[in-house]
Amino acid sequence: MKCTRCRAPAEVQLRAHNAAFCRPCFVFFFQRQVERAIESERMFGRGERLLVAVSGGKDSLALWDVLAELGYDATGLYVGLGIGSYSALSHQKAAAFAERRGLPLRTVDLENEGGLAVPAVAQVTRRVPCSACGTMKRHWFDAAAIDGRFDVLVTGHNLDDEAARLMGNVLRWQKDHLARQRPVLVPTHPRFVRKVKPLFLTSEYETAVYAFMRGIDYIVDECPNAAGATQLVYKDALNRIEAASPGTKLAFVKEFLRAAQPAFAAADRDPPRDCERCGMPAYGSLCAYCRLVDEMQRRATPRASAPA
Ligand code: AMP
Ligand code: FES
Ligand code: ZN
Repeated sequence: MKCTRCRAPAEVQLRAHNAAFCRPCFVFFFQRQVERAIESERMFGRGERLLVAVSGGKDSLALWDVLAELGYDATGLYVGLGIGSYSALSHQKAAAFAERRGLPLRTVDLENEGGLAVPAVAQVTRRVPCSACGTMKRHWFDAAAIDGRFDVLVTGHNLDDEAARLMGNVLRWQKDHLARQRPVLVPTHPRFVRKVKPLFLTSEYETAVYAFMRGIDYIVDECPNAAGATQLVYKDALNRIEAASPGTKLAFVKEFLRAAQPAFAAADRDPPRDCERCGMPAYGSLCAYCRLVDEMQRRATPRASAPA
């Protein structure tokens, strides 16, 4: 197999792109693909300050690497969710990467900074950990972006994440979620910044290969709460479809965004108001994070026992 660009022996084959690459050409192809997504979706420009949410995993570290290589002003944000040794190791990976590349990293540690750690919230509220975790991550990403006066919040969601999420949303016809499943979300509230996903057309396999070729040391383990998550079932189903019909994931996400998403977006709910307690964006009187905090307090306070 020869490299599609330079005819040298190829090291990686991408069936969805009907292409194969040697190492230097793959690195070039990957960075170019991310740059093209940024430009064609008008995600951000050179003069803007980016806050890149990095989990210590391959996608977000590969993305941070590309953004730094392309010359963007990109600061990392790591949120310590308090998930035992998984959080400790993922923080180490993010911090070591930042140090090696001389890139600035901000850290929010939920256990030590007055926040709530994911396991405690999941236990007390009896929510699925990933659902509590999602609410908390969104809150701290938004808060960190606003507090640090960043223009854009960047996450490492890849094609596999987006295709699995789309499948879940379609299977249940979650119109409100479909209305907001886009690679660029413009702020609908003064305390939101623009949110973008430059890897939305880049597969997990491609980011893994890129991270390997660039010598990026990332946390390989999945979050221990992920086992059994429906998202993984969808990913598995999509991988089987992809193996039988390469390019399906890419077409699924791309065609949704082109042909169907605008109709859902047009029927979206009203923009958020201010949370009555903390001022962050809220779709009721309180934002999702303050509701979570309330629920924690309600459940943690033992009810007065009924009189005999
Ligand atoms: P996940 O929700 O784990 O699939 O991660 C999706 C994206 O969210 C990652 O690519 C990161 O950009 C971001 N992210 C996830 N976990 C963290 C974390 N603990 N700290 C900062 N960013 C995170
Ligand atoms: Fe949030 Fe696993 S990363 S529950
Ligand atoms: Zn609030």
